[in-house]
Amino acid sequence: MVTGATGQLGRQFCQALAAAGAEVWVTDLEQARCQQLAETLPGPQHHGWVVDVGEPQSVQAVMGKIAARSGRLDILINNAGIAVFEPFEERSFADFMRVLQVNTGGTFLCIQQGSQLMRQSGQGGSIINIGSIYGVVSSDPRIYTDCNRKNSECYSASKAGIIQMTRYFAVHLAPYGIRVNCISPGGVYNRQGEDFVAHYSRGVPMARMGQEEELNGAALFLASEESSYMTGQNLIIDGGRLSW
Ligand SMILES: NC(=O)c1ccc[n+]([C@@H]2O[C@H](COP(=O)([O-])OP(=O)(O)OC[C@H]3O[C@@H](n4cnc5c(N)ncnc54)[C@H](O)[C@@H]3O)[C@@H](O)[C@H]2O)c1
Repeated sequence: MVTGATGQLGRQFCQALAAAGAEVWVTDLEQARCQQLAETLPGPQHHGWVVDVGEPQSVQAVMGKIAARSGRLDILINNAGIAVFEPFEERSFADFMRVLQVNTGGTFLCIQQGSQLMRQSGQGGSIINIGSIYGVVSSDPRIYTDCNRKNSECYSASKAGIIQMTRYFAVHLAPYGIRVNCISPGGVYNRQGEDFVAHYSRGVPMARMGQEEELNGAALFLASEESSYMTGQNLIIDGGRLSW
């Protein structure tokens, strides 16, 4: 199951999992988009389903569907995420809490419910959370010159929370054979302004932003038995951005 599956990175994770033979539950806020993506994925029958990860009933409902139709859950990618962009001085408390609700709260709800299914199968499972380099370090305000997408304090807090919850759940789900790891991407190119791309890239040893498919290798590694002795880790994929 992939959350936020029809977005830029979620779509890539679905493609990679499907190509590797998984039966994918494509979940996001819009049924038609989920359905459409599920139908175009290679391999076995996939499923498109609406899930709002910030709503406990919505998460519970999809887990019931997965149990009924697929019988088990092996891989969960907690990818859904939102951000807000105003300067922090203008942030409403409601917006601050909404980012925490969806990003950190949504990851919590999916782990809480998804791990139950994984435990029932007795086969363990792999949970992959999507963090961010901004859950590890602050963003640099000097690089946001020609774009209005300034990174926010609540996004950073939500991602730091996800990275820490990864460790918590790795410890608490280890007895059931469930591994929990995190992928923290650096900036991925998505038609940002030229000035931003140039400024951002100057801070990266590899001198460029990431491409959306460059996280697939890590996702497949963590999803598979190739990473069978690895849990509680945060894989930072950032072209070396945090290395200097
Ligand atoms: N793109 C980057 O540069 C980058 C860098 C670091 C981390 N990330 C993280 O990667 C993940 C995917 O990002 P993206 O760039 O593909 O963003 P995106 O906006 O393209 O996709 C996010 C998806 O999440 C969905 N979503 C939003 N609220 C939801 C909710 N309540 N319930 C379920 N789904 C919901 C959206 O509909 C969207 O399809 C996010 O967690 C993001 O924070 C992205």
